[in-house]
Amino acid sequence: MHHLACISCKATFDHREILYQCPVCGHPLAVEYDLDCLVVDPKVWKERPLSVWRYRELLPVQGSPVTLQEGGTPLYHLKKLGEEMGLRELYAKHEGMNPSGSFKDRGMTVGVSMALELGKKTVACASTGNTSASLAIYAAKAGIHAVVLLPAGKVALGKVAQALIHGAEAISIRGNFDQALEMVHELCRSHGLYLLNSINPYRLEGQKTIGFEILDQLGYTPDRIVLPVGNAGNISAVYKGLKEFLSLGLIESYPMMTGIQAAGSRPVVDAIERNLPEVIPEPHPETVATAIRIGTPVNAEKALAAIRQTGGTAEAVTDAEILAMQKDLARKEGIGVEPASAASVAGVKKLLEYGKIERNERIVCVVTGHLLKDPETVVRQCSPPLEIDADLSSLLSALHL
Ligand code: F0G
Repeated sequence: MHHLACISCKATFDHREILYQCPVCGHPLAVEYDLDCLVVDPKVWKERPLSVWRYRELLPVQGSPVTLQEGGTPLYHLKKLGEEMGLRELYAKHEGMNPSGSFKDRGMTVGVSMALELGKKTVACASTGNTSASLAIYAAKAGIHAVVLLPAGKVALGKVAQALIHGAEAISIRGNFDQALEMVHELCRSHGLYLLNSINPYRLEGQKTIGFEILDQLGYTPDRIVLPVGNAGNISAVYKGLKEFLSLGLIESYPMMTGIQAAGSRPVVDAIERNLPEVIPEPHPETVATAIRIGTPVNAEKALAAIRQTGGTAEAVTDAEILAMQKDLARKEGIGVEPASAASVAGVKKLLEYGKIERNERIVCVVTGHLLKDPETVVRQCSPPLEIDADLSSLLSALHL
């Protein structure tokens, strides 16, 4: 069985209570399991397909989940990029290969399943895009209504298209993501919609399975896991899962949890660099990686603990570094990711240059969303196809053979 617990004052609450923060002290909540009573058998897990639901004993859903076969994403060895950087063991976990094209599906299969178990018929989120796309597909599958709030003009085209075609009620806010999140949180509190942003502790449960899959795919614990950080939910979720694995005796040590932000939106990096007890919000976040254009990460408290307790670090990368790495991943490894995802690998490159990563480390970068999420940014970076007359001689003079 499981319950909700405040990460700060440790107050506990029944698992059926609908809470997004501690009613006693206002800090974030987490799902806690009675790990001593849990029967988990890695041999049984290995017989199930690699997916979020392989690890169902460590998930809060009781009945059959709302699933579109999320998880089980490829782990690629980045041989060429690794060689260029002087790293023999550099991997990318391609979360863009999930049903809606981002890691959010891991959280939403659990979150929407919980919405049904808690009797909720309308789900809601604020989003820089991917959360809304994912919520839309799982709400469609579950046959319930989804409301999504988006920062106007700052959501990549593919993500908006997904929210629309899957039938979410999409509203654009003349404001940024942080404001949209405050609004939807208030709406959910006052009107009883079920909030599925990452302040919902159940959603993060699904996302922790990224770490479980990495361990299963590698067959060992990597030295470092690197993630792009926006609202800081994903890095917190992966660390929480690893803590459970450690308590269960399934691993012996932690990978160094490493968070990468965009230079125009780097409150977590500043807090780590300056050893601050909490983040100072960035009122005007800006970056080409719109997925992580977030100035007030709601999971910062959890993320700072994840980084500090594992001896990890945080770094910021410029938009130019992000776009250069997006192209490198595409052209040297055949891996298409959206800009925010390229930030994790760009961060590794930078940390190596600064001497903050050892070259013998075994590193896994989580690349979080698919290239096709943001076609407009790609098209702006590349020359358009050359248009020619429909004859062979024009073709031959156009080609660089
Ligand atoms: N990468 C991508 C592609 C994302 O969409 C996000 C977050 C992140 C990284 C950062 O993850 O917030 O858990 O630190 N996207 C959210 C959204 C905010 O609304 O889609 P995080």
